[in-house]
Amino acid sequence: MKRYSILLVTLALVSSGCLKGQNDPVFPSPELTIPVDESVTLQASLPFKFGAAVNNGLLRSKAAYRNVVIKEFNSLTSENAMKFAQLHPSENTYTWSEADYFVDFAQQNGKRVHGHTLIWYKNPPTWVLNYQGDAAAWDKLLKDHIQTVVTRYKGKVASWDVVNEAVAENGTLRDCIWLQKLGPEYIEKSFIYAHQADPDALLFYNDYGHEYGPTKRTGIINLVNSLIQKGVPIHGIGLQMHTRYTQSNANLAAAISTAVATGLKVHIAELDIAMNPDNIQDLTYTAGLAEQQKAKYEFIVRTYNAIPKNQQFGITTWNVGDSDSWIRGEYNRPDWPLPFDDNYNRKAAYQGILDGVK
Ligand code: G3I
Repeated sequence: MKRYSILLVTLALVSSGCLKGQNDPVFPSPELTIPVDESVTLQASLPFKFGAAVNNGLLRSKAAYRNVVIKEFNSLTSENAMKFAQLHPSENTYTWSEADYFVDFAQQNGKRVHGHTLIWYKNPPTWVLNYQGDAAAWDKLLKDHIQTVVTRYKGKVASWDVVNEAVAENGTLRDCIWLQKLGPEYIEKSFIYAHQADPDALLFYNDYGHEYGPTKRTGIINLVNSLIQKGVPIHGIGLQMHTRYTQSNANLAAAISTAVATGLKVHIAELDIAMNPDNIQDLTYTAGLAEQQKAKYEFIVRTYNAIPKNQQFGITTWNVGDSDSWIRGEYNRPDWPLPFDDNYNRKAAYQGILDGVK
């Protein structure tokens, strides 16, 4: 009898919300999704471009993915198809089919196309790593790759991440094959070569970790300012913003305001908000977590919406639904970083994005 009374009291407390936080419902789908008003979309609701990185395999194989990309976003980045190794797997071979598919899809559906990425320390193919040549030969290699790619998509790709992640965590230039062979000038050369190939394309320096704190952020901002001072054709700064729900609003705001202070266009270029940064293998996505994620998306959008309009290049999430995110695979953990759930239903985070411009 006593045990029965305790059970009744507990049930009453849970249903009244008094124990919220201890027994939040599990929220994969569809229970944790928000009601859909078909007349509302991200692209129509936001006063700046709202984009997503997309994956060709998913565009081809999943109608729900393709439909939500067409419906919700007005700017697209290719998650992988335009990277060096994918486009240029051997010295005299360019493989265009995947990048062409992406660009054609975007154009047919009226989306702005952002190119990602011409030069990245992580992505040189083996032939580049093994390449033998003097400084002039390396210079030619860099120039040929950049200009071949940019020329092919001239007039179709509006903007490029020209150099990606050149700064290390300590704020100095990251060691990589390009730095070793061409020195720090590989960065400005990359911008100059891209600009020669398409003078109308907007050229971005893209990196992550602006919100970690001042060390890396200052290194990035100093690099960008030095390019501006030298007259290098750079038009924008990309803040990847692969962040987490526990990141402080102060750090997120500092990331955005220091980028704005460069005077360049600012692209929040790869946004996702990790919900399981401690890699807990049996974590569940509760209503409480979903609300915290919603608040963080709202804060980022609200902060971005307040910057000068002529510096708003847009916000891009890194893929669409939670199951598409690179995070689950990279860290081998459950996580729910995006505004759509595994079935492309809208999450509370989606509402947070809309609320950020109210
Ligand atoms: O396509 C092959 C497949 O054929 C093969 O069977 C499989 C086995 O590993 O690999 C597949 O390629 C993977 C590719 O994603 C496509 O899914 C690569 O291994 C994997 O390394 C690659 O990861 C990408 C990563 O960049 C490295 O290029 C992620 O999808 C992509 O989300 C991630 O994106 C980066 C941005 O470019 C830069 N900023 C950070 C961001 C997240 O890491």
